[in-house]
Amino acid sequence: MCGIVGYVGNKPAVPILLEGLKRLEYRGYDSAGIALAEIGRLIVQKKIGKVSQLEKELNSFNVVAAGIGHTRWATHGAPSDINAHPHTDCKNEIALIHNGIIENYNAIRTKLEKDGHVFKSATDTEALVHLIEEMKKYSGDLETAVRLALRQVEGTYGIAVISSKEPDKIIAARKGSPLIIGIGENENFLASDAAAIVDYTRKVVYLEDGEIAVICKNSVDTKTIDNKTTEKQVEQVTIDLAQIEKGGFSHFMLKEIMEQPETLRNAMRGRVLLEEGNAKLSGLDGVKSVLENAQRIILAACGTSWHAGLVGEYMLEQYGKVSVETEYASEFRYRDPIVKPGDVVFLISQSGETADTLAALHEAKQKGAAVLGICNVVGSTIARESDGGVYIHAGPEIGVASTKAFTSQLVVLSLVTLLIARQRGMSEKEGRNICAKLLELPQKVQAILHRATEIEKIAEELKDSSNFLYLGRGYNFPVALEGALKLKEISYIHAEGYPAAEMKHGPIALIDENMPVVVIAPKDRTYEKIISNIQEVKARHGKVIAIVNEVDPRIAALADYLIQVPETADFLSPVLTIIPLQLLAYYIAVKRGCNIDQPRNLAKSVTVE
Ligand code: AGP
Ligand code: GLU
Repeated sequence: MCGIVGYVGNKPAVPILLEGLKRLEYRGYDSAGIALAEIGRLIVQKKIGKVSQLEKELNSFNVVAAGIGHTRWATHGAPSDINAHPHTDCKNEIALIHNGIIENYNAIRTKLEKDGHVFKSATDTEALVHLIEEMKKYSGDLETAVRLALRQVEGTYGIAVISSKEPDKIIAARKGSPLIIGIGENENFLASDAAAIVDYTRKVVYLEDGEIAVICKNSVDTKTIDNKTTEKQVEQVTIDLAQIEKGGFSHFMLKEIMEQPETLRNAMRGRVLLEEGNAKLSGLDGVKSVLENAQRIILAACGTSWHAGLVGEYMLEQYGKVSVETEYASEFRYRDPIVKPGDVVFLISQSGETADTLAALHEAKQKGAAVLGICNVVGSTIARESDGGVYIHAGPEIGVASTKAFTSQLVVLSLVTLLIARQRGMSEKEGRNICAKLLELPQKVQAILHRATEIEKIAEELKDSSNFLYLGRGYNFPVALEGALKLKEISYIHAEGYPAAEMKHGPIALIDENMPVVVIAPKDRTYEKIISNIQEVKARHGKVIAIVNEVDPRIAALADYLIQVPETADFLSPVLTIIPLQLLAYYIAVKRGCNIDQPRNLAKSVTVE
């Protein structure tokens, strides 16, 4: 959830920590803080709100010392100066930042308070720093104390710890929350996300669950929590700096919406075999026969990625002729699902770090299924722990509301569908037809993006509504869900997505002249039915915004607003129909003065359960 950054070297740490925090702020923005360790002195500064708030109060810009920085997404304890990280021990010698949840913090805290520790905050995290302090009584050195403390902790963590008694190092450890060590010359870095450190180094080491690292300016040592040394490989990160800048756009979200023609090309590059009418997905080569023989496919994900999964279910069943279930990753893990060897479970995750999705991966793996990732972030935990998979190659997605990752997930799921369908009897001709339709998508998306001003005008007229309904059928039912989610997330307008025909079983009661109803009505096999659904809305004086392929006089007579999108194959239509809904949500939120890239209460990747 939160962002973690750390620095040890010969340069002043604060500017590096601050830049890193700004790059990571999309991961959590309830508060920010830094700590520096000098011999005999710990400097801690923290502040509720954005990194810019912290920056105003920071001094110590010239101090050369090991330092750690944090942006918080609160789980335990309201956002406040006191609950902000870093947290410190009673003697103000040790500072700790944490991503995750210490589940048994209450028991630890109660015991330590009895033993005389004085707590300052309401967080779960503070229990851990006092526990490290307590363990230091037995161990002497910081590394051993951290190890002893972590053995008593239940829950998830990515932590960084510094001490004024050993100011030359950062101790880092992970269980369930990502941490990357950046390797420099006479300096080393720590981050929860490569974006924080790519300005300084591209050489990285991924810390694994259960590992502890001791990071000094000239060395990085990694061990298991049982004190066995582990061998690590130095890898190269390839993020392009321009990709993590706004590049002239007013918001990352708009930049990411506008990038979609390019990101879709990247998702397809080298993978669409037009001549053969097939898909080439090297990451699935090792599991080709598993896919061919799978009796059942499960798609597990959260949020927007779950919506992509739902579209994937429809396409895999229709074309792949295989039974598919889409599961909320958070539910999957706890309901003891029937998963057998021979089943295939795809985990769909932009970040590759979502705790619920990772837990679903572990559940499926433990039950003997093949686990395959559809991730965006290269080297992310889900990608690394899967038996195979496909990267969507959308480039860094910084806007908290996912846009380009969704359309790239859809394209990758279409490629997976094509591969499986061809294994199971789809003709070469049909395969070629699908390939051709896929390759046309980027320019069709571009054509919709050209209509942005039209959509902005509609947004101006609807921005004061307090509720929205989104309706779609078949492949466009998940698009209705996704359109509603986008609006909720960034404009705080209540919105619901429904299968259009379900409306009459309940939500129709909500419709009156104040209710905008977005109806996704491409010319597919449910077209006639959806016209009837529009009639039902109009009969109750709802305002209809229809997403259509052509201006059919019947819809034109009914709808208050029409937005045209090009035609494509039915199963690919979500890639196009979602674009106007992304833009609509974006413009409405801008006109309401909302914080587009950092909507309240949300965080980009949800690394707690
Ligand atoms: C989308 O706009 C969301 N902010 C959220 O629902 C997101 O899709 C979800 O948390 C899953 O994230 P992931 O794809 O990184 O696993
Ligand atoms: N659970 C901790 C807190 O609430 C860490 C949250 C985070 O990951 O930012 O402070």
